[in-house]
Amino acid sequence: MKLEKQSVVIAGGGSTYTAGIVMMLIENQDKFPLRKLKFYDNNEERQSIVARACEVIVKERAPEIEFLATTDPEEAFTDVDFVMAHIRVGGLSMREKDEKIPLKYGVVGQETCGPGGMAYGMRSIPGVIELIDYMEKYSPNAWMLNYSNPAAIVAEATRRMRPNAKIINICDMPVAIKKSIADIVGLESESEIVDRYYGLNHFGWWTEMTDKQGNDLVPKLKEHVAKYGYAAAGDEENPLLEESSWMDTFQKAKDVYAIDPTTVPNTYLKYYLYPDYVVAHANPNYTRANEVMDNREKNVFAECERIAAAQTAEDTTIEAGEHAEFIVQLAGALAYNTYERMLLIVKNEGAIANLDDDAMVEVPCIVSKRGYEPLCMGKIPHFQKGMIEQQVAVEKLVVDAFEEKSYQKLWQAMTLSKTVPSASVAKQILDEMIEANTEWWPELN
Ligand code: NAD
Ligand code: G6P
Ligand code: MN
Repeated sequence: MKLEKQSVVIAGGGSTYTAGIVMMLIENQDKFPLRKLKFYDNNEERQSIVARACEVIVKERAPEIEFLATTDPEEAFTDVDFVMAHIRVGGLSMREKDEKIPLKYGVVGQETCGPGGMAYGMRSIPGVIELIDYMEKYSPNAWMLNYSNPAAIVAEATRRMRPNAKIINICDMPVAIKKSIADIVGLESESEIVDRYYGLNHFGWWTEMTDKQGNDLVPKLKEHVAKYGYAAAGDEENPLLEESSWMDTFQKAKDVYAIDPTTVPNTYLKYYLYPDYVVAHANPNYTRANEVMDNREKNVFAECERIAAAQTAEDTTIEAGEHAEFIVQLAGALAYNTYERMLLIVKNEGAIANLDDDAMVEVPCIVSKRGYEPLCMGKIPHFQKGMIEQQVAVEKLVVDAFEEKSYQKLWQAMTLSKTVPSASVAKQILDEMIEANTEWWPELN
């Protein structure tokens, strides 16, 4: 069957992940053929570093694809079938503040969890809404596949503020964990795993996992996780785990698992269940943002500049990992009606039976041309239900705070987070974050 060619715009063209997605798109021309590939960013200088290299890559490997990088929304969003979004409003320098401010007060400092995630959410909401509006204006039939974090808060905001938008919020963490799980249970690839999972973004649990023949993978997996977490023999091939902070997170899953051995956890739960450990092991002067600036950002940009100067990418080190694989696979499922099963962040509406309908949950969905259809995960136990309801309330309060420009609501959100010990600590963090975010947040009253 001849597949209809697609037009894609990558929003956040200057992202450290863009070149990897381009590699994946080019490698998948048989499954997801492109007629056009565009980059959009509001920072021309940053985007052009990545664009100059990707132009060379496209010319060399798939010259039939029309390639364009622009900061003009009309040019970017006109005639597209998919918007692949991964913007970081405020950049890595604001991520650094999200991480360092809470740590000053002995609280988890993290990109998406705790007060740092809330601060980032307040910046991200208008950025992502703006992208939706561009898409709806210039290509009303397109789908937006959104990685922009904090995905949980962004998903709640888009549900409320643009309820009819064709946006799907996604996360690569379950896919990255399943890559290690495949190694642990002896499967070739994570795509062979059929799973049942429920929760929120960066806040969920697996209940079942089988291979495609229906063989239960869980007993062997649990035996391993109880001893080593998700650290596995194949880790040296996983670029994510080259970095020691990620390795620590994968190992810590052992302790996250211990508190409920009836399920298998997402690694992000460590921030909520072991915040004291996380803070004790953090360096308040050198956080993950610093690590990313010194490693991923530097390496990707240096490689892009090398390609642009050499005018060839023949020997490039840029790789398309599971992050790129997931978003391209999702676009393919929507375009070509594959009915694949994928974890997406969607409105609950009964998927978790004993949770409010309007919570944004992460559950397996069947994806086709019609969009996504969430699968029913049934009722969940007290432990997870209690944690999830608390976290849903935090996420909703952040969006309330944004919409109502309410200091009070954001203070409540920070106070309610399981990562924050008291209302007074929450207030201190909030006050310092307001100072740091004057350029980005609405003025709160
Ligand atoms: P980055 O800072 O390298 O890139 C982000 C790009 O977005 C920058 O080029 C920046 O100029 C651009 N940008 C910022 N605000 C914009 C706006 N309003 N309009 C257009 N462009 C804008 O960041 P990164 O480390 O590559 O990460 C990109 C995003 O992807 C982050 O939000 C990150 O958290 C997210 N991410 C999410 C997942 C997931 O699981 N959901 C996985 C990986 C990365
Ligand atoms: C995982 C998560 C993303 C998060 C990323 C952070 O991929 O799913 O939501 O943005 O990790 O990675 P970093 O390397 O930037 O700390
Ligand atoms: Mn994620």
